[in-house]
Amino acid sequence: MTRRLEGRVAIVTGAAAGIGAAIARLYCVEGAYAVIADIDGTAAERAADAIGAQAMPMQLDVTNEADVQRTVAAARERFGRIDILVNNAGIMRKSYVVDMPEAMWRAVLDVNLTATFLCSKAVLPAMIEAKRGRIVNIASIAGKVGEPTASAYSAAKWGVIGFTRSLALEVARHNILVNAICPGPIPTALGEQGWREGALVEGVGLDKVMARVGSRAPLGRLGTVEQVAKMALFVASDDCDFTTGSAFNVDGGIVMT
Ligand SMILES: NC(=O)c1ccc[n+]([C@@H]2O[C@H](COP(=O)([O-])OP(=O)(O)OC[C@H]3O[C@@H](n4cnc5c(N)ncnc54)[C@H](O)[C@@H]3O)[C@@H](O)[C@H]2O)c1
Repeated sequence: MTRRLEGRVAIVTGAAAGIGAAIARLYCVEGAYAVIADIDGTAAERAADAIGAQAMPMQLDVTNEADVQRTVAAARERFGRIDILVNNAGIMRKSYVVDMPEAMWRAVLDVNLTATFLCSKAVLPAMIEAKRGRIVNIASIAGKVGEPTASAYSAAKWGVIGFTRSLALEVARHNILVNAICPGPIPTALGEQGWREGALVEGVGLDKVMARVGSRAPLGRLGTVEQVAKMALFVASDDCDFTTGSAFNVDGGIVMT
């Protein structure tokens, strides 16, 4: 069977763990080379080792433009091209607005939204030159529905969807397709931290939050990192060739409710 990303080169940010690691793994199974780009350099090396020779670890802070440019240059140097960027790195912090320190607001906007701009800007020259490319932005259902205590995260993810649409319009003429993915609740470090912080801020037990989260989706369960990776494979592959500027839910149906 032909592999769907044979010979393609992908940069996946936040790929040392969780959803990003699952995306990088699946891309490599499908024949891609993947840059495992993460602020945790040791974890990035571990994740790359687990994949093998197709993966290259890079330590970077996605909010630092010099780091981002260095990572893109290293990927071009090693592989000669960049076909796919997955803007996946993210953080979640929970607070009611009335109590939220400005630094928390800025940190959440920086990692989830501004970094998506910085990384996209950095790969575009290579993609424009090649007259092809795929940018995959990992947003969230928090970018489609509001959630108390998650205003910064929700604003950032709403911004990612708006950025996706505007960039898709800008680069369509270069044959660069830009799509977003909106996962629902997935048990990763970020997901679990969000649930713990949510329980603390609301002053309720974690069991109460987990019961609410678990029953929120019409499909009646939490999602998995592999389910998100399968959507990320679709939007990066030739199977998706007439879709740009979309934001696909992988959420068990939550956005409908
Ligand atoms: N888990 C969920 O329930 C859920 C739901 C919707 C959307 N998402 C989104 O999916 C994406 C991945 O989240 P996850 O759940 O896999 O989280 P995770 O915490 O398991 O992984 C996030 C990765 O991003 C890296 N990272 C954080 N800040 C960084 C920075 N400044 N520079 C580089 N790397 C950085 C972390 O080191 C980590 O490896 C995020 O954008 C998140 O908002 C997650």
